[in-house]
Amino acid sequence: MKAKISTHKNQTVSKIDPRIYGSFIEHLGRAVYEGIYEPGHPTANEQGFRQDVIDVITELNVPLVRYPGGNFVSGFKWEDSIGPREERPKRLELAWKSIETNEVGLHEFMEWSRESNTEVNMAVNLGTRGIDAARNLLEYCNHPGGTYWSDLRKENGDEAPFNIKTWCLGNEMDGPWQIGAKTADEYGRLAEETAKVMKLVDDSIEVVVCGSSSSKMPTFGEWEYTVLDHSYESVDFLSLHLYWENFENDLPNYLAKSVEMDRFIKDVAAICDSVKAKKGSDKQINLSFDEWNVWYHSKDADAKREPWDIAPPLLEDIYNFEDALLVGCGLITLLNNADRVKIACLAQLVNVIAPIMTVKDGEVWKQPTFYPFMQASNFGRGKVLSAMNEGPTYDSVEFKDVPYLESTVIHNEENNEVVIFAVNRSEDSSLTINTVLEGFENLSIIEATELADYDPKLTTQEKHDAMELKKNDRIEVDGITVSGQLKPLSWNMIRLA
Ligand code: AHR
Repeated sequence: MKAKISTHKNQTVSKIDPRIYGSFIEHLGRAVYEGIYEPGHPTANEQGFRQDVIDVITELNVPLVRYPGGNFVSGFKWEDSIGPREERPKRLELAWKSIETNEVGLHEFMEWSRESNTEVNMAVNLGTRGIDAARNLLEYCNHPGGTYWSDLRKENGDEAPFNIKTWCLGNEMDGPWQIGAKTADEYGRLAEETAKVMKLVDDSIEVVVCGSSSSKMPTFGEWEYTVLDHSYESVDFLSLHLYWENFENDLPNYLAKSVEMDRFIKDVAAICDSVKAKKGSDKQINLSFDEWNVWYHSKDADAKREPWDIAPPLLEDIYNFEDALLVGCGLITLLNNADRVKIACLAQLVNVIAPIMTVKDGEVWKQPTFYPFMQASNFGRGKVLSAMNEGPTYDSVEFKDVPYLESTVIHNEENNEVVIFAVNRSEDSSLTINTVLEGFENLSIIEATELADYDPKLTTQEKHDAMELKKNDRIEVDGITVSGQLKPLSWNMIRLA
């Protein structure tokens, strides 16, 4: 099969906001305890954070981590997580039916984020709490000093404000499972007032208002419109969440699921713009895809568990090669929509539906999904070019005209690099690509790599090095034309200068 990609240096979709490579750590399962935090582990630092985990996270170059939830945040009392550790209360954590010890709290997490070279995307509880708790938390985190909450932060060990810039106004407030779920009118009004008051405390922050928890929710569309109708002028981003499953074990259909992500983004952007038009506003609401990933492998096991333990192994999806290919398609889709998607958080980062797994007292290991994310996050910086793809397509059970080739072209002006990310969705045919990069001159290959030749069901659980990025020496460059072969079922990166 053959496919053609054509673009021009001056045809820009958008500059990429680095926050598109964000991730997520929730107080859920073994994400925090036994994940990033394990005092007594041979690599633990003075605060009890595992240095081996920090090192692997650093390889992913994650610029933003959403925290502390997720469903967890909707029942969370943030004041429980500050002050002397021995005085912090243990609480029943209702979202995941666990016990939260609060051993890792706000200051510890901020310290971890500094060590991990990442910013925090902080969520406030709009389930059981409201405006007052949110503005107090913000004052505690960002106000320099001289007030009750900011001085308490200093007393608790952090003289300098945390200066957290990105804030989520609750989590999945449309979901009946959410603690303190709300109607769109109830939530829209609360989000508007909370955003307004938080910006009185610190007008440099940006806030994310909750969109639907999936495009399959019965209130999808209406929810976004109503919430924004109430809050448009006070908020900056609208959130989207999407999790993929392959219970049917239908690979062509599974790999096509990034098509629904693309559609979801475009639909939500259209709703934002319709509210903008109705209001005659000059402001554009951008999108925060603050939860996206594959999540289904662990669901049966989790349904059988007994409640009320500390850091139970929950949502520990063991990913395989086909999941890595779909995550690759997801990354390409987010990049091709970089004009509207400014924040995205791979949900999540460690142990809980995560690219990184840990063994208690033992090693840290990388899931197959680690590799496409690592390459995109490190090399997919700069701006996305608008490219035309011409090539064969297929129909699957749910999707029509799915291109075998999913690709994006990125121009990193700072490093003078052009980077192509591509997935070949075909199970049995190679794709011979011909890419014409108009406006560039005398390009040459820096590196071409592939994740290929693996059984779709292969995992890295038993043999942690069972999968690796390999050199693709079938790629050739002639001036501005890049050609070569992409193997069946492959994730590819081609870097040119
Ligand atoms: O990421 C796991 C959970 O998925 C989050 O807590 C919630 O927001 C979503 O339903």
